[in-house]
Amino acid sequence: MDINGKNIILTGASSGIGLDLLKKLTRFDCKILAVARTIEKVDFEHPNVTKYPCDISDPKKLDGLFDHALSQWGHIDIYIANAGFAYYEEIESPDWEHIEKIYKTNVFSSFYAAEKMKAINQGRPFRMVVTASAMSFLSLPGYSLYSSTKAAIRGFAAAYRYELEKEQKLQLVYPIATRTSFFKEAGSGTPVPWPSQEPEKVSDAIIRGIEKDKNSIFPSALFNSIRIMNGYVHFLYPVIAWMEAKKLYKWNAGKK
Ligand SMILES: NC(=O)c1ccc[n+]([C@@H]2O[C@H](COP(=O)([O-])OP(=O)(O)OC[C@H]3O[C@@H](n4cnc5c(N)ncnc54)[C@H](OP(=O)(O)O)[C@@H]3O)[C@@H](O)[C@H]2O)c1
Repeated sequence: MDINGKNIILTGASSGIGLDLLKKLTRFDCKILAVARTIEKVDFEHPNVTKYPCDISDPKKLDGLFDHALSQWGHIDIYIANAGFAYYEEIESPDWEHIEKIYKTNVFSSFYAAEKMKAINQGRPFRMVVTASAMSFLSLPGYSLYSSTKAAIRGFAAAYRYELEKEQKLQLVYPIATRTSFFKEAGSGTPVPWPSQEPEKVSDAIIRGIEKDKNSIFPSALFNSIRIMNGYVHFLYPVIAWMEAKKLYKWNAGKK
């Protein structure tokens, strides 16, 4: 899809991948609603960018975001569900609040936004882009809940795509570990998994992916090769998971 002339909602615009993507999107002639909870953190000004504070884990607030965009623009062409977070933890005691919070933010809000995009765009093209993760494929120790949220998005997409009309797309992005505030937010001293990359690489890949109408966007060619090879050599994922398990045990021992 040509990004020029489009109305775009971008969540998670205050940091990391989202903030870099926001800056790059302003190179196009498009209007952007930049969304985050702490909107003052969106440290970027541009005439085509409007900032909108919203906790996307709350469906009423998400309704408010859509209502606001529709009242300003009349229609929404591209919704980029990029906001998300992880807990880095070795699960030791049951924690319903953790489960609920991460699912509301990473999963429910993306599903709900995808449903809304379909409902408001009957008979017209749209793009729904979700920042999933390499962990949608390869679950890593320390990220049980997080990996499951990103795998859920992949499961949803595989069926939902058949319900879309021509020129309507759900595009998933599968970044590997990306050096942003994500790891600090995940827990104090969280080690960065291998391999890792810079957020600029992810935002470039997202823009290319939207322009080329890709269903799956892999910002790391290395991970994509590992993913394909693991289909033949099934021990590749377990070897990487074992390397990360050792980091988790060390991290956990350091906490005690
Ligand atoms: N970094 C990685 O290694 C990595 C790898 C694969 C996938 N991803 C995914 O990439 C996306 C962006 O991550 P990042 O690395 O850029 O992390 P980040 O730097 O921590 O940014 C996260 C963004 O999400 C927003 N956010 C979090 N919870 C929110 C909520 N309830 N409502 C509204 N906004 C919320 C944050 O803003 P506020 O706190 O102000 O709301 C912030 O703008 C996430 O979906 C993440 O899961 C990251």
